[in-house]
Amino acid sequence: MNDDTHTPLERPIVLIGLMGAGKSSVGRRLAKSLEMPFFDADQEIEAAAGCSVAEIFEVYGESAFRDVEEKVINRLLNDEPCVLATGGGAYMNPDTRQRIADKAVSVWLRASLDVLFERTGRRKGRPLLDNTDRRETLSRLIDERYPVYEAADVVIETGSEGIEVTTARVLDALSDAKRAGTRAAAPC
Ligand code: S3P
Repeated sequence: MNDDTHTPLERPIVLIGLMGAGKSSVGRRLAKSLEMPFFDADQEIEAAAGCSVAEIFEVYGESAFRDVEEKVINRLLNDEPCVLATGGGAYMNPDTRQRIADKAVSVWLRASLDVLFERTGRRKGRPLLDNTDRRETLSRLIDERYPVYEAADVVIETGSEGIEVTTARVLDALSDAKRAGTRAAAPC
């Protein structure tokens, strides 16, 4: 569907949030509704590096991963407008944050510790969480990152309501922003 509330935006839509917030699942559905291409930054990094995120961390270290992450996101932001799900740490990079503010609409999927803990228990392959006290690590990341994520253009609370509902909330918030003529709707 592509009615006046769900038209593609002129700017990329960048999903931010902690691991387990649902950025990729919501992003995929959002892109479909808006008829925009979808990219997952971690998958693009894996394609560029030829190995998994976990292997990049293990073999080259986190800072090498962050360098590739910055480059990949920069490339995607300069391409045709898309929906982009970023890894949880990407928005902590001040240069990436600035580029997102300049070129995109940022949407923070905000979730509680309990929700993140439950969802991140479903799969391995997240080097910051594997082999740690997951709850403690997530709690620390919430303390470090949530004050920075606050800079996002749109904040959506997400809990146990399901992906379709979260996606609908994002679509509504984007339409509101567009109607209000905020930065979310500004042309590139
Ligand atoms: C990270 C989040 C991961 C991935 C990497 C680091 C982070 O992505 O980029 O393991 O620093 O929070 P998801 O948020 O998609 O799990």
